Amino acid sequence: MKLQAVIPPQLLLAANTKPFMTKSVIQKPSFARFSAILSSAILLLTGCDASTPSEQTNPYSSVNFPVYIAAENNPGGDTTVSIKPFASFELPSANMDRRLRPDFHAGKALANQPWVKAPTITTARDGLGPIYNARTCLMCHIKGGKGFIPADANTALMGTLVRLSKPGKVTAGNVKAGVNPHPVYGDQIQGQSISLAHQLRHSQKPDTLKHDVAPEAYTYLNWVEHTFTYPDSYQVNLRKPELEFRNLGYGAIGENTLFSLRVAPAIAGMGLIELIAQKDINALSDANDANQDGISGRVNWVWDNKLQATAPGRFGLKSNKATLDMTVAGAFANDVGITSSLSPSQPCTKKQVTCLSQPNGNDKNEVELSDELLELVVNFNRNLAPVNRRNPNNDIVMQGREIFYQTGCQQCHNPQFKTLPSTLNPHLGEQIIWPYSDFLLHDLGPDLADNRPDFQATGSEWRTAPLWGVGMLEAVNGSGVLLHDGRARTIEEAILWHGGEALSVKNKFVHLPKQKRDALVKFVNSL
Ligand code: HEC
Ligand code: HEC
Repeated sequence: MKLQAVIPPQLLLAANTKPFMTKSVIQKPSFARFSAILSSAILLLTGCDASTPSEQTNPYSSVNFPVYIAAENNPGGDTTVSIKPFASFELPSANMDRRLRPDFHAGKALANQPWVKAPTITTARDGLGPIYNARTCLMCHIKGGKGFIPADANTALMGTLVRLSKPGKVTAGNVKAGVNPHPVYGDQIQGQSISLAHQLRHSQKPDTLKHDVAPEAYTYLNWVEHTFTYPDSYQVNLRKPELEFRNLGYGAIGENTLFSLRVAPAIAGMGLIELIAQKDINALSDANDANQDGISGRVNWVWDNKLQATAPGRFGLKSNKATLDMTVAGAFANDVGITSSLSPSQPCTKKQVTCLSQPNGNDKNEVELSDELLELVVNFNRNLAPVNRRNPNNDIVMQGREIFYQTGCQQCHNPQFKTLPSTLNPHLGEQIIWPYSDFLLHDLGPDLADNRPDFQATGSEWRTAPLWGVGMLEAVNGSGVLLHDGRARTIEEAILWHGGEALSVKNKFVHLPKQKRDALVKFVNSL
């Protein structure tokens, strides 16, 4: 029995999981948007059969949530890889043609092997810095997962970025950057440099370092802790980072500077995100909160060198990059110090004269990375596959799934999209994917705010973090830290930091009995 023959799509929002209900439902507008996508997805699943409607027994029956379907267990559709035998976000799409694998591995090598200082005999791998954050992509996106963040105040940041800028309206010359960079330090603190003397700084006298290119600063975190108490008196310890810069290489940064700490996000599934139709993202946006549910969701319009135009952003923690090519090119230039045609400037500013005078690794095109090599790394990122879910049918996970929808998490963590067809990567096209994000900006309130605008994103807006793979972060590389600055050590902590547009949803969570809170966390952990 095909679904569309039996149940009108709007009734697929049944109130029970197994067997699902077809009782009348009151749809919230935000949910209707999701239902349209979900129902079309279900209709594609030819093998999926509808059970006969039965009397409902589920305690959450008054709430709308989509019927559970087995496809949810493969968040990346047919690209999904099994976490067995290794927990890894570094595997290529499961359905990728074998003939495409050599390119994937070539891209991985470029993302994984250390870049070196120019000049060297290897022209393909030189050009590091002069100032940089890490020698490779995967030193931050460790095994394709999250970056490390130090838990103590004595370890300098390595796999984490600090962005900075000056407040006020973006000046005419900076429109393409989306921020007013700091006149000396630029828009990112690079904590490393190619200077051997600096790397050996403990054994050097400061004046011997004078003519070398200095790293911009070493950044340390001081964690400020407080205790959150639930209405049922359970307590959770929360921590928030404060930045401390030591060994500033180019003088005082000065008052009136905006900073933003960013931990490297997991990068599996980028090619699928790239193939989400913009109209599907726009359909979830309610910029002026016309439906008055307290949740808006805005598109960030950003400059893109590849498109040579302003375009809607979807990559980056404030959706400040429109295309994957620009995201990767930007990472090469700012994080590793490798220039390319899409991101041709070194991270040195005009005020950093020694930095600008260092030899570079330019090839005949006057940039350090050719378009061919850039494309290989983009392609590697594009094909990193999401992992399958664990224990999706567990009773408590199923209960947690209901609570997820009941409390309204899905209003931002939009479960599902269908990717566009792709001629370049047909295996990534027309997949039903479950990223649990709307890729829109939401104001999450003052506690999470970095107060640093980025293109149209305000200082308190963040892109909804995708939740696919979130339960595997710790297993993949030992770093399960959550939220933009890695302050949350658990899913529960991450939820408790939600405010602003998510305040009423957070409050619903807080008022649940502990067993249900745990069930929700267990569901999120199964993603
Ligand atoms: C110093 C650490 C660091 C290095 C090195 C680094 N990244 Fe990142 N990466 C980050 C951080 C932090 C973000 C989030 C940036 C933001 O939004 O401000 C990010 C974002 C990304 C994203 C977007 C993810 C998303 O969810 O939208 C991709 C893709 C990515 N990096 C790929 C790369 C590649 C490829 C390289 C190597 C060329 C690289 N990164 C090097 C830290 C790093
Ligand atoms: C109003 C929109 C909104 C709602 C509602 C919402 N979230 Fe979020 N969520 C976000 C945004 C935006 C972020 C990224 C915040 C940041 O990076 O600081 C996020 C981050 C997270 C993270 C951290 C993921 C990571 O990799 O860092 C988790 C876990 C999470 N949300 C779970 C939930 C759960 C569970 C609910 C329901 C109880 C929920 N959220 C409700 C918008 C929302």
